[in-house]
Amino acid sequence: MNSLQSYLNTNKDRFVQELFELLRIASVSADSAYSKDVFKAADFVADSLKTAGCDSVEICQTKGFPIIYGEKIIDPKLPTILVYGHYDVQPADPIELWDSPPFEPIIKKTKLHPEGAVFARGACDDKGQMYMHVKALEFMTSTNQLPCNVKFMIEGEEEVGSDNLAEFVKHNTTKLKNDVILISDTGMIAKDTPSITTGLRGLSYVEVEVTGPNRDLHSGIYGGAVANPINVLAKMIASLHDNNNHITIPGFYDKVENLSNDERAEMAKAPFSLENYKKSLEINAVYGEKGYSTNERNSIRPTLDVNGIWGGYIGEGAKTVIASKAYAKISMRLVPNQDCEEITTLFKAHFENIAPEGVTVKVTPHHGGQGYVTPTDTIGYKAAAMAYKDTFGTAPIPQRGGGSIPIVALFEKELKSKTILMGFGLDSDAIHSPNEHYGLYNYFKGIETIPLFYKYFTALQA
Ligand code: BES
Ligand code: MN
Ligand code: MN
Repeated sequence: MNSLQSYLNTNKDRFVQELFELLRIASVSADSAYSKDVFKAADFVADSLKTAGCDSVEICQTKGFPIIYGEKIIDPKLPTILVYGHYDVQPADPIELWDSPPFEPIIKKTKLHPEGAVFARGACDDKGQMYMHVKALEFMTSTNQLPCNVKFMIEGEEEVGSDNLAEFVKHNTTKLKNDVILISDTGMIAKDTPSITTGLRGLSYVEVEVTGPNRDLHSGIYGGAVANPINVLAKMIASLHDNNNHITIPGFYDKVENLSNDERAEMAKAPFSLENYKKSLEINAVYGEKGYSTNERNSIRPTLDVNGIWGGYIGEGAKTVIASKAYAKISMRLVPNQDCEEITTLFKAHFENIAPEGVTVKVTPHHGGQGYVTPTDTIGYKAAAMAYKDTFGTAPIPQRGGGSIPIVALFEKELKSKTILMGFGLDSDAIHSPNEHYGLYNYFKGIETIPLFYKYFTALQA
């Protein structure tokens, strides 16, 4: 596209400064203490879409946080791209592990990012990646090169389950009508190895509560004679995997799609260094389901993980006590065909079933979502591949991702269109962790690649 490089070079600093402004807003959707900031981030996104050239921008209120909708329709006969992203972020804690304050963005050089990376909560997930689309639109409108229609739908509740977005999509299918959905909220293999995410895992998330005696007890007077809920919970959790690290919940694997040997061989071609993987995490061995490679374990196979566990005395020193209750939060990552509601039901039945006498258990489901696979023989995929080829000089590798964006399956169901996941993040960006960052290289590459997707998609669709 004309002048893409020179436009980028002229405006680079401003693009970073604007992102900084957005990152300074602590839009943590999970914590009500930040709700004012979440609304503030919504306003920021709305203003930025207006400035970038959308003709109409609406702040759509919901029962929770607003959805920002913006569009620029240049000709109803031309294709329409729907861009989705989120302006909410994960909580910053544990805050003491950050080297710089999470909501005071700063550029630091790292080994992997000698040209610098922006450190802040949301830098990659998803403010930085979402804002690339805003700046790509600005480039196309201000240089008169927008080749098709565009709609933006940016939400503020992705990190807490997108409940209100689901309602919004169901009630606005005409408004949201599109030919392809474009999302940058995933990653790529490496800076010099672009990839397109062709699948997302589903999610079933539950909280469990194990109750023993009706009150906390002296562990000398009662210990050994009544069930200790923490001991019991630990045992129950341990039993959820067998010695091969298969999940033991009856029926759990029934609908899991088994990839053919050819498909697995194809997957194994993606560049991956187990040594570097271990080194980056400072572990001496990987761990997981027997019979599968690391890349299979984190993409095409379902998993079960405890995300948090608590109960009893965790203060300073020692307190001799048997707690009345113990708790855990457990996530199950699902693969296509596994239904999240069904898995939650199976988990609940099994967990209640394995509870020994002397305790009662309560299983409370949290948000979930279905997995997603996107085909590679579509115009959308081809357009994305061509765009990457232009900007990276090498064709992108299709790769199934391990994370979840539960709303994507609903997009397909309600809007009947495919999603293209053009993610520019790296696994090492530490999303959801302390010191989240996003490489300037990745940020600018994204801004550069997106307009080319518009160009090729429009050309191929004609
Ligand atoms: N952007 C992530 C999902 C993601 C990251 C997919 C990297 C693939 C690669 C998203 O914001 C996210 O964190 N999703 C949650 C699920 C949600 C229901 C909280 C997740 O995957 O844990
Ligand atoms: Mn995200
Ligand atoms: Mn996230």
